[in-house]
Formats: sequence, C-alpha cells, structure tokens
Amino acid sequence: MPLDIQLRAAAPQDLAADVLVIGVVQSGTKPVGLPPTLKAVDALLGGALAKAVAKEEFSGKRDQALSIATLGRLPADKLVLLGIGDRRSIGGSEVRAFAAKAARAANGDKATSLAVALPAGLEQELRPLAEGLELGAYRFTKYLTGERRPKAELAKVTIGLATKPKGNPKQAVALGQRVAAAVNLSRDLSNEPGNVMYPESFAAAATKLAKDNGVSIQVFDFAEIRKRGMKLIDAVGRGSAREPRFVHLSWTPKKARRKLVFVGKGITFDSGGLSIKPAAGMGEMKHDMSGAANVVALMAAVAALEPKVEVHAIAACAENMPDGDAYRPGDVWGSLDGKTVEIVNTDAEGRLVLADALAYARALSPDLLVDNATLTGACVVALGTTCSGWYASNDDAVREFGAALKQSGEQMWRLPLLEDLREQIKSEIADVKQAGDRHGGSITAALFLREFVGDARWIHCDIAGPASTDRPSSWTQAKGATGHGLLTFLALVERAAR
Ligand code: BES
Ligand code: MN
Ligand code: ZN
Repeated sequence: MPLDIQLRAAAPQDLAADVLVIGVVQSGTKPVGLPPTLKAVDALLGGALAKAVAKEEFSGKRDQALSIATLGRLPADKLVLLGIGDRRSIGGSEVRAFAAKAARAANGDKATSLAVALPAGLEQELRPLAEGLELGAYRFTKYLTGERRPKAELAKVTIGLATKPKGNPKQAVALGQRVAAAVNLSRDLSNEPGNVMYPESFAAAATKLAKDNGVSIQVFDFAEIRKRGMKLIDAVGRGSAREPRFVHLSWTPKKARRKLVFVGKGITFDSGGLSIKPAAGMGEMKHDMSGAANVVALMAAVAALEPKVEVHAIAACAENMPDGDAYRPGDVWGSLDGKTVEIVNTDAEGRLVLADALAYARALSPDLLVDNATLTGACVVALGTTCSGWYASNDDAVREFGAALKQSGEQMWRLPLLEDLREQIKSEIADVKQAGDRHGGSITAALFLREFVGDARWIHCDIAGPASTDRPSSWTQAKGATGHGLLTFLALVERAAR
C-alpha cells in the first residue's frame, strides 16, 4: 500500500503526528545553535530544544539526529531534528536520503503517522522527498506471522512546507511514489526466496506487471529458448528441475526519440552448479536475479512517466543447480551469437545467460544497450558492498551514463576494460573462454560480455555488492534487496526523452 501523503503549509509546531521530523540544513562547519525557524518550537518546549542542540553540538550535518519527547507540549508526540547536510551540496538525492531516514525513524518508533518539516528552499524537491519516504518505509514482512508481524506500520505522512512550491506539488509527490513503488517492487522480487521465485514464477510476475502497466511482454519457455538457439541459457538452466525463461517487455510510444534496451541477469538461485559454492552465504544467492528484477520493475516507472522513448527490458532467467544433466567444466557450448564458449567454472553462469540476452538485445538496434548483473565477487572485493562497478564501450556512452548517475545519486564507479586482460579469456578449444583467473575478475567478466555486444553503444553494471545489504543504509530499511541501479536507469530514460 502506498503511503497517504498530504501537503500542508504549516509551521513545524503546528504539525500533528506520532513522530515529527524537522529537517535542518547545515550552513557552515561550526554548530550555530538553534535555527531561527525553530524558536517557536523551542518556546513551547520551555527551552529544552535549544539546550539539547547546544549540548549535542547539532549543526545539521548529514545524518546527524537529535530526538526529544514533547510530553504533550506539541501536537506531535516525539520530535526528531535530522541533518540534511551542507546547503551547497543539497540536491534531490540528499533530500531522498533524508526522507528515507525520517520514514525509518518513524517505523522504528512503531509510529503510524509521520510529519516532515521541510526547510525553506527545498520545496522543489517533492518528488525525491516522496521517493525517499516510500523507500525508507519499505519492509519485507510477507513471511512473518502472529507475534512476529510488525505491531505498527507507517501509513500517513504530512509534509509541512514553509513556502508554497511552484508547479504541481501533488503531481510531484504522486510521481515520486510511483517511482519508489517500482524500486520497492524490484526489492520484493529479489527478496523472495528461491523456492518461491524461480524462472517461471518470475516470468509470471513480469507478466502481471506488464498487464497492470499497459506494457507489452513476450515470454519464451524452454522449448522456445532452445529453438531460437540460446544455447548458453540452455547450458546454465538444464541442471535445474525449474526450467529457464526469457522475458522481454517493451514500451513503444509513437514518434519515439530514442531506443534504450536494458538487460538483467536473472539467476533465481545460484548454487554454483557442479562447481558448487561453499555452504556459508549460499542463501544470499537468491538475490542473484536482482538485475532482472531491476529491468522488469523499471518498466512500471517508465509506464508512469510515459516518455517519448522506446524502452525494452530483457531478463534472462535460469536456476543454476548441479544435476546429472547439468553443464560441466570443460564443456564447449555454442551461443545465440554463434561464438563457441569453453566452460571452465559452472559458477560463472551469469555472463553466459547475459551473453545470449545481449546478442538478442543487440538485434533490436538500440541507441544505448545497458546491462546489470550481480556478476562477480571480484567487483565486491574491489569496491565494497555499497558501490557497483560500471564499464562503457565508448566515450559518449560514458558521458550519457555519467550524467544519469549524477542525477540519481546512486554510487557506481567506472572500471576499465583493460585490453591486456583479454589474454585470460583466450581458449585453445573454443572461440572464447568463459572466465579468466582470480585477478581482475570483474574486468574479465566484462571483457567476456563485450564479445557478444557487437558494435552497440554499451554499458555494463556489475551490481554484485550493493544489490543487497546486511544493514540499513541511506535509502533502505533493512537487510535484503536494495533495487540499486533502477533509479539511474530511470534517469537515463528521462534524459533521453528530453
Ligand atoms: N552470483 C555470483 C557473483 C556474486 C558474488 C554475487 C557475491 C553477489 C555476491 C556469480 O555467479 C559468481 O559466482 N561469480 C564467480 C565467478 C568466478 C567463478 C569466475 C565469482 O565471482 O566468484
Ligand atoms: Mn555463480
Ligand atoms: Zn551468479
């Protein structure tokens, strides 16, 4: 259920809710005492707020928080001052993170209603504010029963504005909510356990999303995948009792300005196959379809925005399991592209399903081809768990993607397609070897994918680290899937529509 979000032109001391979060902007490095706009609040609290601000040296630094009980002196039961950060560096993504933290604070407090006082000057950031509220309020509680169910859930939010925003504020809030709903849907798909989310049920979820949003969809079953010559998806999927699926959604408006194609890795569970993974942490591999979840859920946001841009989402779905009929190290397989591939490790399955998906996607002649995948542990070693790695086939694709990243605020770092590492994926027996050695593992995976994109303008995102998290971070409520990447892809679409 979306939050019930209302806008009010009111001072903080007039906002009623279980929790009132007042955003404070930092204006200098030193604590400056009580912000003048909070004089009235402080008076009602008998000077307690000014005292706390001084004691805590509260300056409005990003993520700095101070909370006090109002003991009935304000219409809100609890007051939280929350730092948004330095005035000079505040944009949409800072407001989004602030709102997410406010929603998280409310849920953490078992509040059902929240009021957020937005400082003057940020009225134009209502869309990211609404996005943040929905993203921060997200929890995956579907499988909790009885006593384990959350006792309360945030339902109502009042946004207090100091001055009237320009444009259509209600529409900005509604759009933000729909964008966040798409990210939360991606999280839902990824958080589902492997026994529930397998290629066929993933395709069913994508079909429902397409119907609900007026987007076209094609699903190829295993017979169709084989008939079309997607031999690498066959290789990866054949070891599972759950058959693979290939999913293609499309948004095709008349007089489209450009064509963007997004591809996602959809391994619904990655056991490693015959090159089986160690037991510790294997359960996390239910998230190995986060890339596919992103591109499918992206289409819900695209349908909300109705851009004059053609957008395609392609998900290559399979479960990677060991079995008597599973593919083996040492095998040689063909591919949709025609190139032959020497298999060296059945745990490097993602690049295989992507290779066929990229060959299919390239035939759509996109202006820009973007893939995202929880592809390599090496990328996590390189960049940690809160930043993904990205690669680009040429310089103007770099500029285009870089601008989208700036807009979304998502943390992604560009990595190089080092030509000298290409040695590692040369094969004696086939056209290309599936994987190189440990060193530069994210780069050799990207170089392998490049073999299948032809001369498309191409971006590859290795999201293995930030696709899921074991603790709440700026936009996320809890352990589990984050939807990392989707907001950047949406920014790409929006920029292409201009
Ligand atoms: N799904 C994994 C990558 C992964 C690792 C995702 C950690 C999220 C967190 C991928 O299929 C994989 O197993 N990659 C191997 C490749 C290797 C065998 C060449 C890896 O990174 O170890
Ligand atoms: Mn694997
Ligand atoms: Zn995998």
